[in-house]
Amino acid sequence: MLKAERLDKMLANLGYGLRKDVRGWIRDGLIEVNGKAATSPAQKVLADQVLLMGDKLDHPNGLTFIYHKPLDAVCSRKEDGRLIYDDFPERWLGRKPPLSSVGRLDKETSGLLIITDDGQLNHQLTSPKKHISKTYAVTLARPLHGDEGDRFGSGKLILEGEEKPCLPAELIIHDDKHVSLILHEGRYHQVRRMFAAVGNHVETLSRSHIGVLSLQDTALAEGQYQTLTAEQLMSMIIPDTKT
Ligand code: URA
Repeated sequence: MLKAERLDKMLANLGYGLRKDVRGWIRDGLIEVNGKAATSPAQKVLADQVLLMGDKLDHPNGLTFIYHKPLDAVCSRKEDGRLIYDDFPERWLGRKPPLSSVGRLDKETSGLLIITDDGQLNHQLTSPKKHISKTYAVTLARPLHGDEGDRFGSGKLILEGEEKPCLPAELIIHDDKHVSLILHEGRYHQVRRMFAAVGNHVETLSRSHIGVLSLQDTALAEGQYQTLTAEQLMSMIIPDTKT
């Protein structure tokens, strides 16, 4: 959906710089619109008509990507220490609307994360109505007792400090300390708190899937990301999504 916008506003919202920078680039002949030097910061342009220093604009119609969150990176813009946003081009951090992660992973959790500037997509992906499952690979401190699968699947498990039971979740056992857990909701520290509720402790945690999209199939190394359109993403997560 292309929309004509003021040249200076478009470039500022894409994170290239301030409107005054755009005026300087126009003076220096660094911006082309439809093959001709731009003349005014106020001229109305379509994003695909513009070249800045000879380059097309970077994702002018929205930015969505999948990312392999490393351990120890925080899903926040403000905190101290390593932030997930440190892994992305600096210009992306100046974009409006801003990028945000679809839900969060704890600092000590690695794995698949979606980042987008599309508020509607973000809402769709987190809405319980869409039934998008999340799968976590878990290493436990102590061996399973044997009843965890039934307790997680019962729809009756109550987390400490909560009253509403968790939705039924599926436990896949690889061995007595290695499991996968498939959740259909996202509560604060949910996987860690579910195992705490059955007397265990999570040692390592990684999100391996969102819907049917598998981190392994993406071949993304920790800290790497891959851009895609909202339609591509939805069809990878929910395979029968119409595009
Ligand atoms: N459950 C957790 O405990 N932590 C996460 O980061 C995600 C799910």
